[in-house]
Amino acid sequence: MKKPRKKGPAAKKGAAPISERPPGPSSAPPGRQRGQSPFSPRRSQSPRALAINILARVRATDAFLNVVLDAALDEHRPDARDAALVTELCYGSTRRQLQLDEAIAAVADRKLEKIEDRVLAALRIGAYQRWFMRVPVHAAVGATVEAVKEVGLHRATGFVNALLRKLGDEPPKGSGHPQWMVDRWTRHFGPEKTAAMLEADNLAPPVVARINSTRTTRDELLAALPGAKATTVSPVGVVLPSGQPEELYGFTEGLWQVQDEAAQLVGLYASVPKGARVLDACAAPGGKSCHLAETCSVVSTDVHAHKLTKIRQEAERLGVKLEVHKADAAKLPEALGEFDAVLLDAPCSGLGTLRRHPELRWRRRPEDIPRLASLQRALLESCQQRVKPGGLLVYAVCTTEPEEGADQVELFLRSHPDFTAEAPQGLSFPTWQGYLRTLPGPEGMDGFFAARLRKMY
Ligand SMILES: C[S@@+](CC[C@H](N)C(=O)[O-])C[C@H]1O[C@@H](n2cnc3c(N)ncnc32)[C@H](O)[C@@H]1O
Repeated sequence: MKKPRKKGPAAKKGAAPISERPPGPSSAPPGRQRGQSPFSPRRSQSPRALAINILARVRATDAFLNVVLDAALDEHRPDARDAALVTELCYGSTRRQLQLDEAIAAVADRKLEKIEDRVLAALRIGAYQRWFMRVPVHAAVGATVEAVKEVGLHRATGFVNALLRKLGDEPPKGSGHPQWMVDRWTRHFGPEKTAAMLEADNLAPPVVARINSTRTTRDELLAALPGAKATTVSPVGVVLPSGQPEELYGFTEGLWQVQDEAAQLVGLYASVPKGARVLDACAAPGGKSCHLAETCSVVSTDVHAHKLTKIRQEAERLGVKLEVHKADAAKLPEALGEFDAVLLDAPCSGLGTLRRHPELRWRRRPEDIPRLASLQRALLESCQQRVKPGGLLVYAVCTTEPEEGADQVELFLRSHPDFTAEAPQGLSFPTWQGYLRTLPGPEGMDGFFAARLRKMY
């Protein structure tokens, strides 16, 4: 069933966020060409050395972890076991960064900001292996020190060795989230739900795909793809077996597209009538556009020209038709015309996707939320103008924050008496106050919010 690994869109860790949220896993970093890698392509690196270089690059450049990791794995082609180890070290130590740093700071003779990026990355992965992968102390320290030498930091081996040996047997207690987030969620969702969200954020997410209903059914795909399992909430989802998604049966044939289960629910919740003319105003990397294009005539726009190629490639692979244009959703050209439905899957804080994008925990600030809410307000205002009377405006965000979700929609409805919230009928999953709301938790989905609004006149 496996196909030889080929160059092409990797689709490893699910459909992802935006310019505000990190680019999807399948986006190659713009401008990178073979031979320009920061990862010394001439010689393959050990998993720990690769992890050190990846984490240091993310820290030094504020790049997104999934993008840097994908580029490094693509360049080095480690075998599946080593790739899994690199991924675990990078994601795990980023999730647990707060606890790791607290412990490192307690035994270091200098402030963490004064420690070179690659040395700090080595300390983090060393401590992570010890505490969260249960690697015995001597092995965790020994392998990390070897990796430090491998990346050319011979002078730092003594420091790393001594410091890792000074760490206690247990990590400091903590959830791996900044306190402001924990406080915010406790206020909004109560302590029990918050605890479940924190726990879910610290688990490695499954790789989930949406079946392409123009080419297959879920039962057919489950029968043809060993190890695949049906998702529990989305009726069109499958949890993919382990391995590179693009090497699995059905990728080349365009039978499915990687998309988190909650993101799939947005397309279903939208319940856009078959054959409708739809605008997807913030469309890249194209998961929801391709979903809607299975049954509708879709125009996909995004403000970032370099992301449009990805939408076109995915539509071609899946065999669905899309019209793709560069456009700013805040100033949609009148020439686009009016649509039966407009989807605004808006830039947001991405706090519903922290298991996939753990570095957002440390990058986001509380003040980002009102800033993004006001951007979303402007985009809603522009998008509503492109909805025909009688048509639908579907607003979605991959965040847990009410200011970007339900509060945003309530505000919009108050200032637009021509719109009303209209929950769809006949869904196979529950809604929340007529809206779609998923929270990270035992169901294993990202946190999403969506509203379906009808323009009455
Ligand atoms: C949440 S993502 C969309 C995900 C996409 N709908 C999917 O399902 O694959 C938001 C997208 O909005 C785009 N974006 C950000 N600001 C925009 C703007 N002012 N106009 C249009 N697109 C914008 C980003 O490039 C990003 O790709």
